[in-house]
Amino acid sequence: MLPYSLTTPIYYVNAKPHLGHAYTTILGDSLVRFQRMMGRRSFFVTGTDEHGDKIVQAAEKAGQTPAAFTDAISREFSELWPRLGVQPDRFVRTTGKAHKKAVQTFLQRVYDNGDIYFGEYGGHYCFGCERFYTEKELTEEGLCPQHLVKPEYISEKNYFFRMSKYQGWLKEHILANPDFIRPERYRSEVLSLLDSGALEDLCISRPKSRLTWGIDLPFDENYVCYVWFDALISYISALGWPDNSTFEALWPGEEHLVAKDILKPHAIFWPTMLKAAGLEPYRHLNVHGYWLTRDTKMSKSLGNVVAPLEYVDTYGLDAFRYFLLRDMHFGSDGNFTEEAFIARLNADLANDLGNLFSRVLSMAAKFCHSTVPAPAEYGEAESYVRELADTALGNFQSLFGEVRTSSALEALWELVRHLNKYVDSAAPWALAKAGDTVRLGTVLYTLLESMRKVALSLAPVMPETAATMLSQLGCPGDEEKRLLKDEIGSFGLLMPGTPLAAASNLFPRVDPEKKRAASQQSAAKPAKVAPESSAPGNIEYADFQKLELKIGTILVAEQHPNADKLLRLEIDLGEGTPRQIISGIARHFSPESLVGKQVAVVANLAPRMLRGLESKGMLLTAADGDTLRLITVEAPVADGSSIA
Ligand code: MSP
Repeated sequence: MLPYSLTTPIYYVNAKPHLGHAYTTILGDSLVRFQRMMGRRSFFVTGTDEHGDKIVQAAEKAGQTPAAFTDAISREFSELWPRLGVQPDRFVRTTGKAHKKAVQTFLQRVYDNGDIYFGEYGGHYCFGCERFYTEKELTEEGLCPQHLVKPEYISEKNYFFRMSKYQGWLKEHILANPDFIRPERYRSEVLSLLDSGALEDLCISRPKSRLTWGIDLPFDENYVCYVWFDALISYISALGWPDNSTFEALWPGEEHLVAKDILKPHAIFWPTMLKAAGLEPYRHLNVHGYWLTRDTKMSKSLGNVVAPLEYVDTYGLDAFRYFLLRDMHFGSDGNFTEEAFIARLNADLANDLGNLFSRVLSMAAKFCHSTVPAPAEYGEAESYVRELADTALGNFQSLFGEVRTSSALEALWELVRHLNKYVDSAAPWALAKAGDTVRLGTVLYTLLESMRKVALSLAPVMPETAATMLSQLGCPGDEEKRLLKDEIGSFGLLMPGTPLAAASNLFPRVDPEKKRAASQQSAAKPAKVAPESSAPGNIEYADFQKLELKIGTILVAEQHPNADKLLRLEIDLGEGTPRQIISGIARHFSPESLVGKQVAVVANLAPRMLRGLESKGMLLTAADGDTLRLITVEAPVADGSSIA
């Protein structure tokens, strides 16, 4: 069987890890655990992307050198993964020696093959995206389509990769391999991009006069490598390319897992780069959607970024992993809210799975002294359970293998739910009362053996809970090493006479009201006491950095419908959709006098409701006695410009 090798994106170290990073990496971890349990040798790679302008700017902002800054944030990522139950085989950093060597070997190879040339280029450069945009790609207002800020026009001499040369080859490859990019919607998106003929050559260098935090081009020491060209090569440098047997063993079987935001570099840059270096393309590009919070993109400035460990600490790691894999449908966006999380936990984990274990184990304690009973003759109801177990596990396995984890878990839950129904209809308590121990043994055995199959199937998703469930069922510690595929078509592995746990309480129900009250209380906790070194009344620079202050233009100003003192403002902070901010300035300014003014805004204040309208941020003003003045700029700046 071919080995299975999977990568997550290597994450930028300009921001701390959040739900989005946690999702891709937990998903990757589950897929790799699953493939291992299907009998494939597996290898899982994640890491951090540490070069480029973005990182330099973030380091400067933090008052650190890029090296110290990248070390610290990269460590946050590598230390987070074990806490989320993630076990990567390799954690790659693009500032590592072996990676640098691989990038230089790769560049030299493509250069020697004649696919890198030197030329002059003028383009609109977005520092956020770290890439040039053509006129056509910008919005009608001439802004970067991702960040909605005005890019800088830069004209300079650079090195280019002849990407356009491989357009035809790439299209044919995608057509010939329908699952090269999956799901289908992203494959079609890439094909239409190729059909539009938009594939230009790729600028792959940055002059050192502008950026030094990168890998030197091996053929010109005045330039460093473009961060995306550098980052993509991590997928093979992590396997030891160019001179390690891990690469030989795993390539070209490698699969990549990314979200839709980075489809183009993975679907277009990377396969053409591999082709130009004389390497086979990867096997699959798996593309998932985005986690939104209340249908809104998570962003630091909206203050709606979900911190994974807060959920793990409150509700437990396995409930968190289960929710992520169950509530995001592969390819589509998912909506993360605490309500949805609690509802899923209560319905699937507490009511269905937890209840099944608790009921069956307590009946086994009562009626069979907590030992696995021997089955006798299976009746119709048991044959149905066995058939359903085969179908559910079969569907679970094929869907999970295609990254369709939500549908896979739904398929498995058909079995879990049916087992609960079977408990009701077979009524072991009535059999015990009637003294029918033979039939009672058959029913309880059917339940326990099916529960063992469910527990084993869940090991990739909820490793700790699966181990607990298996040990409650009296299975030896290495039971998880059983091959999942062997579970289909077999029934009867659980040995009669095996001791069982007398009780089980896997997932206690969560009272939604209580939880929310608890989290509100903790949000209202007083801030930590300042360290002794700081003078009373002073704050640390790190505290100041927590504020996101921005300039924006007031587009709409009107009286709040329910409050005389409040105005309802819509302010353009360069985010695409204007922010609604409710401000208590109605006594000081007429709405008409505000429209068109550029003002200072606290952009990352947690949203709050003010007399029935949501306010997402705060307008800053200067108070001179009873007079208020707007804080504005001496000359117009792009909306969204930060105040530092
Ligand atoms: N450094 C590049 C990737 C280079 S790979 C050779 C990069 N880094 S990133 O830190 O911005 O990570 C982007 C990835 O993080 C997404 O593709 C996805 O895996 C994950 N997510 C970040 N936010 C996300 C959501 N809101 N929802 C789901 N996943 C998202 O791009």
